[in-house]
Amino acid sequence: MQQANAPIPLRGRNVVVVGTQWGDEGKGKVVDWLTDHAQGVVRFQGGHNAGHTLVIRGVKTALQLIPSGIMRDGVACYIGNGVVVDPTHLLLEIERLEKAGLDVRSRLYLSESCPLILPFHVALDNARESLRETSGAGKIGTTGKGIGPAYEDKVARRALRVQDLKHPERFAARLRELLELHNHTLTGYLKAPAVPFEPTFEHAMRVAEILRPMLADVGYRIHQASREGANLLFEGAQGTLLDIDHGTYPYVTSSNCVAGNAAAGSGVGPDMLHYILGITKAYTTRVGSGPFPTELPMDEVGTVGHHLSTVGQERGTVTGRARRCGWLDAAALKRSIIINGISGLCITKLDVLDGLKEIKVCMGYTLGSQSLDILPLDADEIAACQPVYETFPGWEGSTAGITQWDQLPLNARRYLERVQSFIGAPIDMVSTGPDRDHTILLRHPYQSA
Ligand code: GDP
Ligand code: IMO
Ligand code: MG
Repeated sequence: MQQANAPIPLRGRNVVVVGTQWGDEGKGKVVDWLTDHAQGVVRFQGGHNAGHTLVIRGVKTALQLIPSGIMRDGVACYIGNGVVVDPTHLLLEIERLEKAGLDVRSRLYLSESCPLILPFHVALDNARESLRETSGAGKIGTTGKGIGPAYEDKVARRALRVQDLKHPERFAARLRELLELHNHTLTGYLKAPAVPFEPTFEHAMRVAEILRPMLADVGYRIHQASREGANLLFEGAQGTLLDIDHGTYPYVTSSNCVAGNAAAGSGVGPDMLHYILGITKAYTTRVGSGPFPTELPMDEVGTVGHHLSTVGQERGTVTGRARRCGWLDAAALKRSIIINGISGLCITKLDVLDGLKEIKVCMGYTLGSQSLDILPLDADEIAACQPVYETFPGWEGSTAGITQWDQLPLNARRYLERVQSFIGAPIDMVSTGPDRDHTILLRHPYQSA
């Protein structure tokens, strides 16, 4: 039998960055920091429900759909097939970054296989949320960007995809069919206005002309780049506890946010995921509804909840909603570490704990007569869980902007070391401020990948 040719090795080393909580852990900051070691950054799920904030020498940039690598000259940015794309939003985001002086179009690649978010998805998302509210079912608290309805069309095999933008007649025919279905639901069931065909079609075609040069076979392109030695960074959106399968269902987003989806959502094999970096806030936040065992009241000045919310500036990047705040939940983190196959963690926003007299960490729960050492899977059970805390003394002085481990106050180091031993994964990085440079490195993800 003839010997098969040996496959050409993939020479690049790749890191996946994922959120380990309910999103907003500081993924964007860390992706930007790591991108000095990468030639390409890939988004693989979610859409413009994400809000990733980067601060570079005091200047703030918020990104939703465009990968956080865009802030580094020459870095290629890929939007993989697992992302749902609102073409109108994408164009706005490109124009906004170009106005700030960035070169975007020459290095942004948009997968032809991405499902599109169109105006009727946004209408469905918002009308359903209103219905849930009035019917007493309670809102999910979505971002209202049409994410859920767009993923529903994808799995129902009726979505319009980026590639359809290249074929106006095909696009028009499929749009007509989709509108018939969704307008029936909007007007009949949800008592909301119908979305008209003509303006939807004409606007999509105008945007299509502009986006067309950026359409690409993203999976093949990043595979080739990796063969040529490019290091890649896969940038997760949302967080593990918002994952459609593993999160606090139904209070979740509609995609898989876990590291395993970095391969499926960008069109490469799992052998390309070499190191998984979990991003974890030193406390916990959540936007929208759903169970949150370590949640604290935030209204009263002088309380820990108020401190976390105000010092941490915990307001949603996308919707401007106040984020719910609470203590770090290490028992929930344990589950995230398992689901993602975490290689190492970056603990962010340590500086927000400065000034607290004592710091608590949830190490398990009681649920009725049971003791649990890991977050349960059922949202109702999670809601009934009582956290079991370990209490640590706070520290004197400020950790803000510290870049060396041994310059951290002893109590801050002890706190991090105890969390590390409980969760069983190494803390490889610590973030002490929003700026790119406010970072402590213990083990470099690319040198360990
Ligand atoms: P992402 O969605 O995971 O990228 O996180 P967001 O950008 O939505 O939210 C994180 C917020 O915390 C942003 O405003 C960041 O600028 C900020 N941030 C990130 N890391 C740190 C840190 O270590 N300390 C402080 N104080 N702020 C941080
Ligand atoms: P980043 O990438 C925090 C939440 C919403 C809501 C639920 C479902 O910035 O971490 P959706 O619009 O996705 O159907 O809403 O998910 N959510 C996020 N929360 N950070 C995010 O992204 C989020 N994206 C969605 O608040 O509870
Ligand atoms: Mg965010």
